[in-house]
Amino acid sequence: MNFDVITLFPEMFAALNYGVVGRAINNNIINLRLVNPRDYSADKNRRVDERPYGGGPGMVMMAEPLMVAIKAAKKDNPAAKAILLTPQGKLLTQKSVKSLVKNKHLILVVGRYEGIDERLLSENIDEELSIGDYVLSGGELAAMVLIDAATRLLPNVLGDEDSAIQDSFEDGLLDCPHYTRPENFNGQKVPDVLLSGNHKKISKWRLQQKLGRTFLRRPDLLEKRKLTVSEQSLLTEFLSEQ
Ligand code: 6GU
Repeated sequence: MNFDVITLFPEMFAALNYGVVGRAINNNIINLRLVNPRDYSADKNRRVDERPYGGGPGMVMMAEPLMVAIKAAKKDNPAAKAILLTPQGKLLTQKSVKSLVKNKHLILVVGRYEGIDERLLSENIDEELSIGDYVLSGGELAAMVLIDAATRLLPNVLGDEDSAIQDSFEDGLLDCPHYTRPENFNGQKVPDVLLSGNHKKISKWRLQQKLGRTFLRRPDLLEKRKLTVSEQSLLTEFLSEQ
């Protein structure tokens, strides 16, 4: 999968050279190209922002350098999808990440908070995405979040083939608690069922924990997900033990 990132701060993306995403880059599973829109500025001082028409604080990114950068990226692959990272965008979710990885090539356009000339959007941007209801000083971290979440869904990226399937949100639920050695940590014991070796019981306990945690921490997720009769009874039992 190819990611072209159009950003004023390409150096920030060094954060992707670690862990799972770093390995995916080294193994050529993803290909990251960083493009500075200043390189496409018509201005001799490489200027890419200007004061807003109508006045007000902050600067606005000019449409032209971004448009030229997007067009240069699309020249290589006209089917590439251009995504603008902006707090005005639709919320990025595990579901939308799954759908994004069907693309072979994404062009991520990273804006600054004050915004981008609206006239760039209609012709050159296919989709606007936000990573949550809070304000970042720029879209770079949001672009890295998208790249990370997408990369780990690609084939041959995660060592253990199962681990993406078991992730939080994959089944619309939060993840269950995990434990490793020692069996007793400062007086806190590992739940007996996990030491039982009974795999059926263990899966049932894990599902029950997922349901219970989701109910307590993210009731909004449960409203979107219908529970089966047996899930409902696991949840009822969990709550009665609380
Ligand atoms: Cl994509 N950009 C900025 N600047 N802030 C955000 C965001 C994006 N998503 C959430 N907050």
